[in-house]
Amino acid sequence: MAQEKVAVVGLGYVGIPLAALLASKGYEVMGVDVSEERASSVGEGRLPLKGDEPGLTELLAKGVRKGALKASSSAGMLGGRKVIFVCVDTPIDADRRPDHSSLRKALESVAKNMSRGTLVIVESTLAPGTMVGVVRPALERGSGLKAGKDFGLAHCPERVMPGRLLKNITTYDRVIGGLDLRSQQRACAIYSKLTKGKLHTTDLTTAEIVKTAENAYRDVQIAFANEVALISEKLGADAFEVRRLVNTCPFRDMHLPGAGVGGHCLPKDPWLLATAGKAANPKLIPIARAVNDSMPFHVLDLADSLLGASGLKVEDAVVTVLGASFLQDSGDARNSPSLPVVESLKRAKELRVHDPFLGDFAGLKVQKDLKKALAGADLAIFMVSHKEYLKLAPGALKKMMKTPAVVDGRNIFEARKMAKAGIDYRGVGKGSLQ
Ligand SMILES: NC(=O)c1ccc[n+]([C@@H]2O[C@H](COP(=O)([O-])OP(=O)(O)OC[C@H]3O[C@@H](n4cnc5c(N)ncnc54)[C@H](O)[C@@H]3O)[C@@H](O)[C@H]2O)c1
Repeated sequence: MAQEKVAVVGLGYVGIPLAALLASKGYEVMGVDVSEERASSVGEGRLPLKGDEPGLTELLAKGVRKGALKASSSAGMLGGRKVIFVCVDTPIDADRRPDHSSLRKALESVAKNMSRGTLVIVESTLAPGTMVGVVRPALERGSGLKAGKDFGLAHCPERVMPGRLLKNITTYDRVIGGLDLRSQQRACAIYSKLTKGKLHTTDLTTAEIVKTAENAYRDVQIAFANEVALISEKLGADAFEVRRLVNTCPFRDMHLPGAGVGGHCLPKDPWLLATAGKAANPKLIPIARAVNDSMPFHVLDLADSLLGASGLKVEDAVVTVLGASFLQDSGDARNSPSLPVVESLKRAKELRVHDPFLGDFAGLKVQKDLKKALAGADLAIFMVSHKEYLKLAPGALKKMMKTPAVVDGRNIFEARKMAKAGIDYRGVGKGSLQ
């Protein structure tokens, strides 16, 4: 039987694992991206994503080697594809409203090249109402075809996390919103080959609400943990011990507090939901966003107070920020909480940024050698719990630094051990030594 021809539009964190996986499951895949650099990298079997992505480098290379996966920057290559997946970025604008510029351009390309019988599946995260209000009309207008009658339409929002892309995509349950039963069934037939997880079918708008609510829920949970961390600090308690004990109570699942929330999804998906639902006047979701956005500034307050206690000002100090990506062991720096911290500390006598996965950040060259980054520093601020940092012993840290002052945004160190090593230490949620 001839292999089914499919296409993936948008070769990023979502599109690349999908394209590689489809190629490994017997589909003939064409990846299309507006970025020529991205398309040629994927087309040559080289993974253009930074950070550790177990199994993906090999899967991508294998798909290209056996000729099952090709990539191009030309939208014309979408012609003749039975199924077209849309995986482009869907950010928010400065007013926190959905920015549909990439989505609209991608839909234009799809509409021009689709034909009777095509199934279009949008995997990008969408503000509820977008499939019905934006995607369907754009495809119908651009193609002259009628959704449901001439082509199928589904929304299967992706749930992956950088660092675990392949594992997530092959094991997680998927929610599949379809315009009609036929679209749902066709989409299910494909996803049943991709994941061991269950497939849950619903309508287009419910699928959009589910995805944005998943991320808004997580953001609210993290904001709650952050609020408990701020309270614990003031009361001289350790929020991580509080969390451990809270979670001994049945039906409790307190999240981890920390130096802030970043990435492409969590800082914007709650706004996609809140904006779409503004008629309901949502209050909790925007407040949670504000709490999480304030955490990098809390880290800066901790740094100021720690330096102040040593009689130093930021302007006179050598400061090292450790971790610039938004997530441990990932090179994804989108909306990283380290950004406001680094920007504010540019007034330091000397500012160094260390990250094992990034080359530059906020206009600064990133130091990759941990020892060089810490040598002679007055203040070290840990923003991300990269594996390399977890191996650092307080004694070694003390020897490397000049004024051993450490702010811990990710519960990497134990306050007691840092004190024993002679390090001035403050951490998000750690009030036990104040
Ligand atoms: N990153 C994640 O972990 C994650 C997880 C779940 C869902 N999502 C959602 O999936 C979508 C994609 O996210 P991502 O992280 O893969 O984004 P990304 O920025 O990594 O990739 C998007 C790609 O689309 C390309 N693109 C933009 N416009 C295009 C067009 N008109 N035609 C062809 N290519 C185009 C870009 O060049 C880019 O390479 C977003 O809606 C996001 O919210 C992301």
